[in-house]
Amino acid sequence: MNEVVIVGAGGFAREAAQAVRAAGDAELLGHLDDNAALHGTEVDGVPVLGGCDLVHALPGARVVVCVGNPGDYAARARLVRRLGLPEDRYATVIHPTAVVSSTSRVGPGSVLLAHCVLTAAVRVGAHVAVMPQVVLTHDDVVEEYVTLASGVRLGGGARLERGAYVGSGALVREGTAVGAWSLIGMGSTVLGDVPPGEVWAGSPARRLRAAPAPALDELLTKQLGGPVA
Ligand SMILES: CC(C)(COP(=O)(O)OP(=O)(O)OC[C@H]1O[C@@H](n2cnc3c(N)ncnc32)[C@H](O)[C@@H]1OP(=O)(O)O)[C@@H](O)C(=O)NCCC(=O)NCCS
Repeated sequence: MNEVVIVGAGGFAREAAQAVRAAGDAELLGHLDDNAALHGTEVDGVPVLGGCDLVHALPGARVVVCVGNPGDYAARARLVRRLGLPEDRYATVIHPTAVVSSTSRVGPGSVLLAHCVLTAAVRVGAHVAVMPQVVLTHDDVVEEYVTLASGVRLGGGARLERGAYVGSGALVREGTAVGAWSLIGMGSTVLGDVPPGEVWAGSPARRLRAAPAPALDELLTKQLGGPVA
């Protein structure tokens, strides 16, 4: 049986641990977290084995990086870059109640929680976090490092660019793009394209402000052609 370690020990990491257990096709070794106070403890009955860099001492284990929140949703990209692991070290975690059509694809390091639906020809990139009851419909493209909070729904042919964060219950109109590292507020209705690096919210969604600093840093990294994991 494959072994899996989860980088992070917070809310999303604990949810991913439950998905690994429910899937039952890999042995969950534990969490890795840089908070030394957690080392040697358990979260939800799962041991915290040590810091994130312990992945290098566990070459047989596959990895998912499960960190990030609306205040710093770029954390996952930073950690993946720091770890520098080859793509084949990453696991893809799919809860057994998720429905992934045979024409859809999910990338390495991505996590789909319970009751997600990918209807037809959906492309989900690497290190994407998909929370419960997200519905992705035909021809949607979800690029790497995107986070979809619970209950998000995308119309057909929508595109979420690299690192975008879509808050709980938001709706995105068919054929619409959300720019890289932009954040959509919970419950919003996105009717038109959202530029990169901005926070939009409301129904219809309107610009609130620029994205948080870590997200803007990631946007700049990409624009400058810097090191991108
Ligand atoms: C959009 C968001 C990031 C804004 O947070 P913030 O910068 O702290 O903004 P504030 O709470 O100070 O609100 C600023 C304004 O935007 C409005 N606003 C904030 N979030 C909104 C939302 N989701 N929809 C509509 N309006 C919203 C506020 O009413 C306020 O309006 P006002 O200036 O007229 O009073 C946040 O509200 C949000 O939706 N985050 C996503 C949460 C989520 O989905 N979590 C998933 C589980 S972890």
